[in-house]
Amino acid sequence: MNYEKTASDLAARGQEHLLAYYGELGEEEKKRLLSQIEEIKWDEIALWKNPRDLSGKGKITPIPGLKISEISARRAEFQAIGAEAVKEHKVGAVLLAGGQGTRLGSDAPKGAYDVGLTRPVYIFERLICNLSEVCEKFGAYVPLYIMTSDKNDKETRAFLAEHNFFGYPEEYIAFFVQDMAASVDFTGKILLEEKDRLALSPNGNGGWYSSLIRAGLLTDAEARGVEWFNVFAVDNVLQRIADPAFIGAAIESGVNCAAKVVRKTAPEERVGVLCLEDGLPNVIEYYELSEEMAHARNKDGSLLYSDGVILNYLFRASKLKEISAKKIPVHVAKKKIPFLDGAGNKVFPDAENGYKFETLILDMIKLMGSCLPYEVEREKEFAPIKNKTGTDSVETARELLRRNGVVL
Ligand code: UTP
Repeated sequence: MNYEKTASDLAARGQEHLLAYYGELGEEEKKRLLSQIEEIKWDEIALWKNPRDLSGKGKITPIPGLKISEISARRAEFQAIGAEAVKEHKVGAVLLAGGQGTRLGSDAPKGAYDVGLTRPVYIFERLICNLSEVCEKFGAYVPLYIMTSDKNDKETRAFLAEHNFFGYPEEYIAFFVQDMAASVDFTGKILLEEKDRLALSPNGNGGWYSSLIRAGLLTDAEARGVEWFNVFAVDNVLQRIADPAFIGAAIESGVNCAAKVVRKTAPEERVGVLCLEDGLPNVIEYYELSEEMAHARNKDGSLLYSDGVILNYLFRASKLKEISAKKIPVHVAKKKIPFLDGAGNKVFPDAENGYKFETLILDMIKLMGSCLPYEVEREKEFAPIKNKTGTDSVETARELLRRNGVVL
C-alpha cells in the first residue's frame, strides 16, 4: 500500500491522525506503519459504536455432565481409554500464553513469573512439570504448542530455552504467534502507541486455532496423529494437562468437546458457567447470568448453574476443522491503553480510555455442537494467578500450591 492511497483511505474514515508523524519517520518505520494500517480490520473497529449484544438470547437450560462422584466411580475405565490415546499420540496440548497479564502488572511473559519463596518456581515450570508427569508415566511425549503474541514471543522463547524447557524434549515443543488487533479511544479513533506504530494488542484467545493453522502447526499435529487438542490457560498453576481420565471421559462420551469445570461456590462467584442455550453448549459469563439463574437451585440445595469453566478444554480435531471457516463474535472491552497524544507524548492512563477487540475461546464451544462438563476438585486443580494480591492472586495460588505439596 502506498502513502497517497493510505492517506486518502484514512481521511475518508476520519483516521488521518495515524499519519501525523509520517514525515518524521525513517524508511523502515514508514513501511511498518503502512503495513500495520493495511492490516486493520475495519469491520471489527466499527463495532466500538454498536458492540454486538453477546449476552445470549436463547433458552438457557442446565447441561448434563460428569460430577466428581461419578468420575471417581469410573476413573479406572476413563483412565484406561485416555492412557491409550496418549500412548498413541492422539493428544496435543495448546498452551495459551499470548495474553498481556495486565492485572498481574509484570511486563515479562506471565509464565515467566516466579511464585517461589525460598527457590524459583516459575509458572511455566509448574505447567510443564504437570504435563511431564503424564508423559513419563505413559512413555509418550505430548506435542506442546505454545501460543505467544508479538508482545512476548521473543521473551517467552528465550526464557524457556534458557531453562532448558524445564526438561521437556525440545522436539515436542513448537511456538506460534497470535494476531494483534488495533485499539480505539472512546470516540472510535485508532490509537497510536508510537509515532511509527499503532497501539496493537493480542486479539484474544479465540484465535488460537486459526493462528495454529497459519503457523503450519495443524499440519504438524496431523502428521503426529493428533485427534484431540487439550487447550489450557497459562495462569492456573495447578492445571492438569493431558489428564488421561478427562481424555478418556471425552472419548467415551462421544462429544466434540469437553470442559474441566469446578463447582461454583456462591451465586455471585465471578466465573463463566457452562450450560445449554437452545440445546447447544455455551458458556455464559458471570455478568451475563441473570440474578434468577445465578440463584436457581436444585432440590438438594445445590446451584442449578454451577459448572464454572477453568479454561481447560478438549477439542476434537476433526470437528475443529469442520467449523474452522465459521466466525466467532468479537468482544469490545474497555481497557487502559497506553497511547501517544496529539503532541507526541506517551500517556499511561490511570483509568480506562478506550476499547480493545477480542475473540474468546469460550465462543468456540457452541460451534463444537456438544460439550461434556467434567467436574474437578477446585483445591487440586484450580489456582489461577490473575492479580498480585487478593482473589485469584499470587498469594492464593501459593497457598494452594503448598497444600498440594509443592515446595515454594
Ligand atoms: P485472561 O483473560 O486472563 O487475559 O487470559 P490476560 O491477558 O492473560 O490477563 P489480563 O486480563 O490482561 O490481566 C486467559 C488466558 O488466555 C490467554 C492468556 O495468556 C491466558 O492463558 N490469552 C489471553 C491469550 O493467549 N491471548 C490473548 O489475546 C488473551
